[in-house]
Amino acid sequence: MDWGMANRLSQLIQRDGHCLFMPVDHGYFQGPTRKLEEPRKTIEPLLPYADALFITRGVLRSCVNPDNTKPIILRVSGGTSMVGADLANEGIITGIDEVLRLNASAMGISIFVGTNYEKDSLLNLSRLVDEGEKYGIPVMAVTAVGKELGKRDARYLALACRIAAELGARVVKTYWCENFEKVVRGCPVPVVMAGGPQTETELEVFKFVHDGMKKGAIGVNLGRNIWQSEHPVAMIQAIRAIIHDDATPEKAQKIYAGVKKQ
Ligand code: 5RP
Repeated sequence: MDWGMANRLSQLIQRDGHCLFMPVDHGYFQGPTRKLEEPRKTIEPLLPYADALFITRGVLRSCVNPDNTKPIILRVSGGTSMVGADLANEGIITGIDEVLRLNASAMGISIFVGTNYEKDSLLNLSRLVDEGEKYGIPVMAVTAVGKELGKRDARYLALACRIAAELGARVVKTYWCENFEKVVRGCPVPVVMAGGPQTETELEVFKFVHDGMKKGAIGVNLGRNIWQSEHPVAMIQAIRAIIHDDATPEKAQKIYAGVKKQ
């Protein structure tokens, strides 16, 4: 692996081999998502506890100070919205010159396996990997499941993750599911877990993050279950303990309760 690629990956994946990426990119198709209406207010208190931010260029420029020292994963796919014809019909929205100008450590792109736009999104991923490899910039593929939550099973997610890895993604983001070990086993590059919509209880999040880590995920790219929480700083610290300190879900719950009280 070239020095630049290795250096960027080591900014993202910490010395223990694990990572806590915080996505705040949801507005690129959802608009002002709940509790992310003013991105700067959401991001600032959480940034010290995140290993990287997953973000679009617009929010990066307008809501994150350039003296921020956390690595940036730039969301470079988009062009569709919640109210448009088909969310899966994304294109690449940011050129490589812009990625370099913004000093991003990685690029993130969604793929839509099993949709009408499967081929387009996979070819977008392949092209992005070609560009990224030329400049030593890793690509994180996001296995998007959209509204069809029925697809959040090990068979589908393993298929989507493996395809992303085969096409050259350096990291794959997917969802936790039952039998998650099957997803990780079939994917030859590191896997990180997204959180999905906010769960009923904090413990549910701690449990699936812990289970996924035990089954081979290297970390999370987890947004709404952190910043939509009533106590986002407590939430991110508890999740961080699972990822970097091998905390159990019960220990994470105690950390959450302790920080919440402060
Ligand atoms: C949105 C994304 C998010 O980065 C991803 O879904 C993780 O966020 P959350 O934990 O809120 O699901 O790709 O398009």
